[in-house]
Amino acid sequence: MDDLKAKYIAAIADASDEAALEDLRVQAVGKKGEVSLKMRELGKMTPEERQIMGPRLNALKDEINSALAARKASLADAALEERLRSEWLDVTLPGRGRPAGTIHPVSQVTEEVTAIFADMGFAVAEGPQVESDWYNFDALNIPGHHPARAEMDTFYMHRAEGDTRAPHVLRTHTSPVQIRSMQAQGAPIRVICPGRVYRCDYDITHTPMFHQVEGLAIDKDISMANLKWVLEEFCRAFFEVDGVELRFRASHFPFTEPSAEVDIRCSWEGGTLKLGEGDDWLEILGSGMVHPKVLQAGGIDPDQWQGFAFGMGIDRIAMLKYGIPDLRAFFDSDLRWLRHYGFSALAKPTLHGGLSA
Ligand code: DAH
Repeated sequence: MDDLKAKYIAAIADASDEAALEDLRVQAVGKKGEVSLKMRELGKMTPEERQIMGPRLNALKDEINSALAARKASLADAALEERLRSEWLDVTLPGRGRPAGTIHPVSQVTEEVTAIFADMGFAVAEGPQVESDWYNFDALNIPGHHPARAEMDTFYMHRAEGDTRAPHVLRTHTSPVQIRSMQAQGAPIRVICPGRVYRCDYDITHTPMFHQVEGLAIDKDISMANLKWVLEEFCRAFFEVDGVELRFRASHFPFTEPSAEVDIRCSWEGGTLKLGEGDDWLEILGSGMVHPKVLQAGGIDPDQWQGFAFGMGIDRIAMLKYGIPDLRAFFDSDLRWLRHYGFSALAKPTLHGGLSA
């Protein structure tokens, strides 16, 4: 019995994992294990022998079981130690001094515009940048022969051979989102639609991709007066200049009747642009009362509903507000430019907190 004990206690101490321990348990105290077989022999012994051997065998069995349990616990401890060592992490290390990025002026201004119009009850709507020519032109009362189609320097998508349908276009303005919003929501409606637009044009004031924001308000009795108030309210809030002055100039767009272009009073004295003073006027947007045919294309009955729309260049108003001279630099990804004109990621524009603070 002493041999048995010595053999198993040593083997258990040497076992390198749980599987080895389990093998030893089966060999020693399993149903057919060495210790169990010895216990069966008790039946053949004399009562005197049994009285001595019984307790000794039980004690041996207990000893082996507790050695197994102890080894199992120490193997688990060692595994945990190993994990703690290999997964150790010094949470007190300083961060890697990564320079903070900045918010692009186009994103910043889009947020500012959104905050102002949200305050006046406008929701934000979006539409696809690859648009059918129906949404981009026809639905906006720009038929096939209309000169506006040519003027817009449209990018046409490639068509599969044999496909005779009108090609899709990269949207030339955000106005098609008016149609999509009317179709999706019906009237009354108040939305702005900011996003990217595309025209084949490139010089100091034009890039082939730029940004616009469209506005649309339809209800029973919306008039030009509401349009004027909303735009004046917007410009006052956006440009953050006391005494911003607007001029509404009669114009023509196929999708509005009547139409007006809006100019803002400014001065160029000393070569720098100042808003709200001087004798010059800078055009900032197009607007008007939505044409009945456009309402119809959007599924809205023009005998019951009317409203205004406007379209504005986001990059353009960003240049005016923040004194950025060259439009092309917006899209050059020049880090020095981005650091200079970019905004802190934490300075989210709100009406109460100050737009560009
Ligand atoms: N879609 C016009 C453009 O890209 C801008 C515009 C003018 C939009 C008048 C309007 C509007 O909604 O009423 O040049």
